[in-house]
Amino acid sequence: MASIEIAPFKKSFLGQAVTLSAAESWPHAYSDWEMLADLSISNAAVRESRVVGTAFCTPFGTDVAMLNMIIVASSARGRGLGTRLMQTVLDQAGARETRLVATEIGLPLYRRFGFQNLGAIHQHQGVATPDCSISLICARKAVEADRDAISSIDEEHTHTDRKTLIDFLMRHGEVRVLEKAAKVTAYGVCRKFGRGRVVGPVIAASSTQAKELINGFIAAYPEEFLRVDTPQASNLSPWLISVGLNVAGKGWSMRRSPRTPVPNTHALASQALG
Ligand SMILES: CC(C)(COP(=O)(O)OP(=O)(O)OC[C@H]1O[C@@H](n2cnc3c(N)ncnc32)[C@H](O)[C@@H]1OP(=O)(O)O)[C@@H](O)C(=O)NCCC(=O)NCCS
Repeated sequence: MASIEIAPFKKSFLGQAVTLSAAESWPHAYSDWEMLADLSISNAAVRESRVVGTAFCTPFGTDVAMLNMIIVASSARGRGLGTRLMQTVLDQAGARETRLVATEIGLPLYRRFGFQNLGAIHQHQGVATPDCSISLICARKAVEADRDAISSIDEEHTHTDRKTLIDFLMRHGEVRVLEKAAKVTAYGVCRKFGRGRVVGPVIAASSTQAKELINGFIAAYPEEFLRVDTPQASNLSPWLISVGLNVAGKGWSMRRSPRTPVPNTHALASQALG
């Protein structure tokens, strides 16, 4: 069989990458792969100019990197390619703490590399109805002047510098903030993703704040398919189900070589980005 080379991911691979993720029933559209490729050190496993695997390393500052889009085509599995791709992204992450959200099938591979389980991530989705007991006037649209406050709240909860991600979200997403005494205390984002929109990150001091932000986006997009990935520890799942966002899947938040306290978020930017 022809050998498989691991090479830098090229823009011309995007179409094949969409096919690879669709085969796993992942919803990533061309633009979702493009976003991740732009934010990451991205790799493709190539056999005779066909993409048979991918693995991306998204560095956040000097302390943390997210590993994502780790996929091997079913025809190439069980022969060590997943292990080679993992080694590649771990080398690219260097001394950083590495984080990922694992699927059931990925768990054995990540455990072998020493990743520790931090808890479940619940994937909620559907067309939702706003909770009428929550006021819709709590949040306001973020403006350029909020960028530093948003970055610092984000860092306080995720223990990593995600300014590059926040810059992207300010350009491509709808960002809303809550404030108290003219000080930003929480933020949430809604942006196009997969079949509809994803609500996240939601970074807040309490589940009350998180619900206010999410409820505002539900009200803004009444007919749209929405997705929210929330850590089990946030305790938001029962409320999300009550507004019509049912559980469609589950992943596991994992990390290796910890250098920071455990992140504390109410919704992820996506499973890829944490
Ligand atoms: C998870 C995934 C990337 C693993 O890819 P893979 O190429 O099969 O991984 P490897 O071949 O390196 O390892 C798989 C198994 O094959 C075994 N293996 C590795 N090299 C081997 C070889 N040369 N010969 C035979 N078996 C081998 C490994 O020991 C491993 O066994 P384990 O499951 O007991 O740990 C792949 O299953 C996949 O793409 N799944 C769908 C997408 C997904 O869920 N990705 C994870 C996202 S978080």
